[in-house]
Amino acid sequence: MKILMVCLGNICRSPLAEGILLTKIKERNLPWEVDSAGTSGWHQGELPDRRSIAVAKAHNIDLTYQRSRQFIKADFEQFDLILAMDSSNYSNILRLATTEMQKSKVKLILNYAYPNENRAVPDPYYEGGF
Ligand code: 4NP
Repeated sequence: MKILMVCLGNICRSPLAEGILLTKIKERNLPWEVDSAGTSGWHQGELPDRRSIAVAKAHNIDLTYQRSRQFIKADFEQFDLILAMDSSNYSNILRLATTEMQKSKVKLILNYAYPNENRAVPDPYYEGGF
């Protein structure tokens, strides 16, 4: 199973989602891979936001190996599941999809915890709340 976490900047939410899932994968020895990307390329090549790095570190999760990158169409082929943090990320990804197979891979991450509610992971970049 290859999972891609996607937010807007790939510096706040999706790096944390990647780091948390990678920790679970390692703990359980699962044959899974996880990566993350942003629908924008605004922070291409940057480390995760220092606030994400700090909150992860407080839980013994390292994010400093990560560098921001933009979501690309090839990700539809590389990954089995593409998990969007909010509905804006979701529609931006879907806009790039050209086949039903590609569209079917895209889900809102919080629908696993709150089925059909389409809840967002709030964007903490300006308001905080990491
Ligand atoms: P993220 O947060 O999508 O969770 O990485 C943001 C990061 C940067 C910006 C917005 C949201 N920005 O406007 O640069």
